[in-house]
Parts: sequence; C-alpha cells; structure tokens
Amino acid sequence: MTFERKIRIAPSILSADFADFGREIRAVEDQGADWVHVDVMDGHFVPNLTFGPPAVKAFRKHVTTFMDVHLMIAPVDPYIEAYAEAGADLITAHVEAGPHIHRTLQAIRATGKKAGVALNPGTPAEAVAHVLDLADLVCVMTVNPGFGGQKFIDMTGKIRRLRAMIGDRPVHIEIDGGVDPVTAPLVVEAGADVLVAGSAVFKGGSVGDPGVYGANMRAIREAVGRR
Ligand code: DX5
Ligand code: ZN
Repeated sequence: MTFERKIRIAPSILSADFADFGREIRAVEDQGADWVHVDVMDGHFVPNLTFGPPAVKAFRKHVTTFMDVHLMIAPVDPYIEAYAEAGADLITAHVEAGPHIHRTLQAIRATGKKAGVALNPGTPAEAVAHVLDLADLVCVMTVNPGFGGQKFIDMTGKIRRLRAMIGDRPVHIEIDGGVDPVTAPLVVEAGADVLVAGSAVFKGGSVGDPGVYGANMRAIREAVGRR
C-alpha cells in the first residue's frame, strides 16, 4: 500500500450498539467509512473497560477496510502479539503507557502490522521526536482518553508542530476525540489526515437507519472541504 495523505474518516465503534457490532461495522463501511477504529481500554491506564483480543478477532470478520486498534492499556508490550493475531491492521500504543515506547513500536512492527503512537493532551509533541522513523501514525488525543462524547480540546499547535517534525516521512496524523463538522476543519488545517469520530458518526442513526451514518460522515467531509 503506497502512502497517501488523503482525509480518512475512522468511526470509533465505542459509539456503536454493543449488542450488534457486526452489523454496525458493515453499516459504517457501506456508508463510506475509510477505517474502523477500535478503542481498547483496560480500567487501569484509562478509567473504562472495553475489548480483549477475542472481541477484536470477532470484529475482524466484519471489517473489509482497515482495522485501526487503539490500545489504551498499560503495560502494553505483553498484549501486542494477541492484538496482532486478532487481526489489527494498525496497532497504536500510548507514549504514557510505559517507559519504552521505542521498544513497543519495534515490537508492533515485528508482528508485521503498522505501528501508531498516541499522545495524551498533556504530552508534548517532542515525546515522539525520536521514534518517528518507527511509526506509521501519530495519534493526537483531543480528549483525555477513556470515554466517547467528550468535549474537544484544542491541540492545533501540537498538530502543526508534529506536521513540521514529520516532514516527508510517510506518517499519518490521526486525531481522536470530539471530532465533528466544527472541529474537523481546524485539525485538518493544522495537518491531520485521519479523523476518528465516535459520537459524531453514530449519533441519530442505527443499523436500521444507516443513512444517518453516511450523512454524518458527509457533513464532516464537506466541512473539511469548505475550510
Ligand atoms: C477516547 C477514544 C475515542 C473516542 C472518540 O478514549 O479513544 O476513540 O471513542 O469518541 P468521540 O468522537 O465521541 O469523542
Ligand atoms: Zn480511540
């Protein structure tokens, strides 16, 4: 796959119907999702619990695009192989989750998967300065991780800084948290190309009424196009 910095929308299934993931994933993909974002939480690194490797493996059967697995867990290294085997296309780990992000990214790459590194709102861009050659994606959190539906925290200064640090490298900048038609243009203007969106994609829709998901994603794309 060659690197392309086009705008991608990655719905977070954290905002989907938890009793119906297969149909929810197919619905957002049919409606134009580029990637599917899976939020893994451990009740320790973040104050919420979600999906272990067997759940992610079950999601994989329904994903035909690209499965973006966001690990909000600590420690992370002991679980990398399990999430790789579960079928992640890209695995993102947090710099704050342990003392050895360089080793963690090496371990993700060693599984043959793409590697992402995430930064909490309080963490500076410089924290990833020495691992950019080991990363396929930098995820800038625009909420404190743990829950969907939180208010966007402006990180445009950090995004600009990362864009300059990344230069010509084939590294995506992903934004996660509070992305909607109002905030998406700000982060894209600053240099982001992958937009995770949970509540802004799923709100008002359902597997019985999936056109709403499509309209919600179009609203984000159109807002970005008008910027
Ligand atoms: C937050 C998660 C996000 C979240 C985004 O911890 O990493 O992916 O689900 O949800 P919204 O778009 O509702 O802020
Ligand atoms: Zn996420």
